[in-house]
This record gives sequence, C-alpha cells and structure tokens, in this order.
Amino acid sequence: MSKYLRFIGRSHCLSLCFLVVANISFAQQISSGYKNGMVVSAHPIASEVGVGILKQGGNAVDAAIAVQFALAVVYPNAGNIGGGGFMVYRSAENELAALDFRETAPGKATKDMYLDTEGNPIERLSLDGQLSVGVPGTVDGMVKAHEKYAKLPWKDLLQPAIDLAKKGFPITAMQARELNARKEAFERFNPMGTALINKKNEWKAGDILVQKDLARTLKVIRKKGRAGFYEGRVASLIVEEMKRGNGIISYEDLKAYQAKWREPIVGSYKGYQVVSMPPSSSGGIALVSLLKSVEPYPLAEWGFQQDSTIQVMVEAERRVYADRAEHLGDIDFYPVPVKGLLDSNYQAERMKDMDFNRATPSNAIQAGSPQVYESEQTTHFSIVDKDGNAVSITTTLNNSYGSQVVVDRAGFLLNDEMDDFSVKPGVPNLYGLLGGKANAIEPGKRMLSAMSPTILTKDKKLFMVVGTPGGSTIITSVFQTILNVIAFNQTMQQAVDAPRFHHQWMPDEIFVEENAIASAVRARLQQKGYKITPRTSIGRVDAILVGADGSLTGGADSRGDDKAIGY
Ligand code: DON
Repeated sequence: MSKYLRFIGRSHCLSLCFLVVANISFAQQISSGYKNGMVVSAHPIASEVGVGILKQGGNAVDAAIAVQFALAVVYPNAGNIGGGGFMVYRSAENELAALDFRETAPGKATKDMYLDTEGNPIERLSLDGQLSVGVPGTVDGMVKAHEKYAKLPWKDLLQPAIDLAKKGFPITAMQARELNARKEAFERFNPMGTALINKKNEWKAGDILVQKDLARTLKVIRKKGRAGFYEGRVASLIVEEMKRGNGIISYEDLKAYQAKWREPIVGSYKGYQVVSMPPSSSGGIALVSLLKSVEPYPLAEWGFQQDSTIQVMVEAERRVYADRAEHLGDIDFYPVPVKGLLDSNYQAERMKDMDFNRATPSNAIQAGSPQVYESEQTTHFSIVDKDGNAVSITTTLNNSYGSQVVVDRAGFLLNDEMDDFSVKPGVPNLYGLLGGKANAIEPGKRMLSAMSPTILTKDKKLFMVVGTPGGSTIITSVFQTILNVIAFNQTMQQAVDAPRFHHQWMPDEIFVEENAIASAVRARLQQKGYKITPRTSIGRVDAILVGADGSLTGGADSRGDDKAIGY
C-alpha cells in the first residue's frame, strides 16, 4: 500500500464550513426565495442558532460568531474552541477581508520533534495526544471578528452555545455512530473522563449530550473575552492538560497567540470575482490557480465529468498541488511567491505540456519556478455595512475530534493541527500531502492549511458563498462546486451533492466517489494511463447561491447532517 494512502477510506469529513449571508435585502430583491438571510452549517441546531441571531438584528459576522461557538458544542468532531480556522468576509459594498485564526506551533516546537533518533517519523505522534496540539486560534479569531464587524454584544453571541452545553442537545444518528466509534480513543486519551463518553450504553440518536465543563468554559469566555481563554483558569487547565501527556504548549504561548487580518486572495474566473483565503492557507492560491488553469478550455461544451473535462481538471490539479508542496507555507515565515503563482501566464505555461492522449505521470511534474515578488500582505481594516454582508468560515480540529484530548475540567477538545506541518520532507501527512522547507515546523509558525472559505461575486454583486472540510480534497471540492454552477449550470444543491473526484499530484491517482465518473469514461481514462481509485465520500460542501433578484438558495451537503435555513 502506498505511503500516501493514510487518508483514503476515511468515511466522513471532519472539519466544517459554515456560511452566513445576512440582509440581502436590496431594492432589486423582488422574487420568492429567502430574502433576509441564510445559514448553512454542518449541524441543524447550529444553523438555527445563526438564523436566530440574524432575526435578533445581528449581521452576518454576529451570526458567524454564534454559529462557531454553537458548533463547538453540537458538532464536537470539528466545531471547536480548541482549534482554528479562517474567515473570508465581504460587505455589501464589496469590502473584502480575511481573518486567519489558524493555530501556531508552540514556542518549544522544533523541526524534528516528531522524528525518532534515526530521523524517521514516529507513528501518530503528530496526530494523537497532547504533543499534536497547536496553540488554538478560534477564540481570539472570534474576538477580533467581533471587535471589527459585529453589532450585537459579545455575551449574546455566546449565550446559545452556553445553553446548549448546559442543558444538552439531542445528537443525530451520525453523531451517535461517530461517538461510539471513538469511545476507546476517548478513554485512552482522557483518563479523567469526558462528557463525550457514554459510560453506561452506546450512544443512540436522540440521546441528550450535556457538557457542563464546556458550559463553564464558555461562560468565562462570555465574561472575559480573549482573557477568558488565553489567560487565567482555562489557560492553566490547558497547560495542566499538556503536562498529563507529553504536550509543550505553555501559558506564554497561549497569552501570545494572535489571530491576523490578511489581504484576501482575489482572482477571477469567466467574469466572476473569486475571493478566498491567503496563506497560511494554501486554499485561495490553489483554488484561483486551478480556475485560471482550466479557464481557457471549453469545459461547458465538453460537459460535466466527460473525458476531456476530467483530464484538464486533473492535469491542472497535479501541477497546482506540486507547487503547493514546494512553495506554500506560513507567509510570516516563508517568502511565498503569491503573485508569481497567480500569474495567468505562469499557469498557462504549466499546462502547456498536457497531452490529451495520455496522462502526464506525476513524477514527471515538479514544482514550477514562479516569479518571486515581495510579499504584499497587509491588514485589512474597514467598516461593515449593515445592509449586506457575507461570511464564509472553515474551522477545524484537523482529524475527527482532533488530538482526542479533552481539556480536563474545561470540557473542550484540542486540535491535532501540528500534523499539517511537513514533519519531514517527502513524508506525507494525514491527507497524503507533501511539503518541505516552506512548511517545516518552527516555533510560532502556522501550519499550512488547505481550507478554502470562498466568496464569489459577479458585477460587484454577491454570487456565491462556498467552502468545505476534507483535508487535501477541500481545494478540489470547492473548485468542482464552482465549476458545477458556472460551467455546468447546476443548481446550488445539485452542485453540492454532485459526486466528486480528486487528484493531488502525489499519489498519482484520481480518487473518485463511488458514483463519480461514468464507467465508460473511467475505462477510457484508464487506457490513457490514469489510475482511478474509488474512495468514500469527499468533502461536505455548504454553500449559498444568490439569484439575480437577490434571493438566496442553500446547498447543504447531503453527505452529512448539514442544513440550510433561510428566512
Ligand atoms: O487545515 C487543513 O487543511 C486540514 N487540517 C483540514 C482538516 C479537514 O478538513 C478535516 N476534514 N476532513
């Protein structure tokens, strides 16, 4: 079995994306459909919480903050306060912003911290337990989003999550299955116990999950904001939890953590403006590179999942992921050639050696040499307009339930995001992704992400809000969803539910969902040298499409419990 295949066969996606669009009540909005706002998230209760905030007069950022905290309670395998994520924001006046609340490597982290004395990676050390944890970014991210854009008081946005944690909520059938499957791991990593373990029975659909410790933590955050998490009792409990394992996050690391406003990546595809996440995520650069690479080809004419369409998409993917492995990392630590990678001529040059008669072997593709420019990273400050905002957030603990460590007496799961660093050049991470110097571990550095919260506009009007979990497949899932709507004319729900495929340079395989790519097409591609490998579901896209009349249509991925609620 290939060394890249650790991520194959995972049955579901583990980070989550949620989207909020508020107050799309422009003069031109005349037809049916949802007119006042919509929330699409991985859990129906979190979507309800978000819509509740919109109905109270909150804007999209208010709703997003409430949804983020609610998901930390009702969707513990990825919703979090012990992880991190990214937010892309657009106001009605086309003001754009990107917030990076990605985790950072602790101060005591070293380049070789997951290697044995012979320089080989120690199995699962970057994935399980206290040493796999990056300094969490979510709470500071939400505080910064609140400071800049929110309308409602902080405490009102925390309250729904506190109530859900304190009184409990009914878990879904999918959640019951997932929690039962993790019982042993939770017991192993949480000898002091956690509310996520059902001591008496197996969990079943409708059981009420009460999380008293988490409610207490959320109350402190409600009262003290950032200091309620990064200082005082909660921070001390995190440090104590570190000591129970071999963790290295210190009180100083927590106190020093800062989420950062960054300039979003802005590109275009067929006249649509594409706004997405800059490094420390690779998502925006890779997504725009993919769209630019395929733009010259007549995909609409060739058709959805037809031979040439798939070939062009796959050949673009292998080239873009080769560049990702070489050139992308935390821009505060490494000179990422952002403009060079996004140059249309560069992408056209990369696609030049594609041959429709045969697959290009991945080992014949190396990273390109984009022109190196100075970094243009700036902090984006502006004022939100109460009449129209869109937020796209992807947030994660990395693997399902992260490190599986719940902070004792604080009741929240810690991430295992350290695995997203390149633990050693040439050694794939959980998702089979490769990396080198650009994404090597350094204290205070952010590990490279694939998360791609994205917003599209057309003629300066909001068009689509989209994102997904799925590790390395995030970028290609967002890519396909956008093409499904723009090139293949699918509705939002069709575009989200459409079967997906994925190529990431290494391993040199096209991973396909069971019903993706018709068998005759598969056979012809195989003859041309493409290796096609079936796998379980790819991504859980949550998206909103804005009609010409301003009305909102949701696309909630039927692969999960995801729910679109509009009003
Ligand atoms: O940041 C990243 O790219 C990953 N840690 C995301 C993890 C993820 O999407 C898990 N979902 N399957």
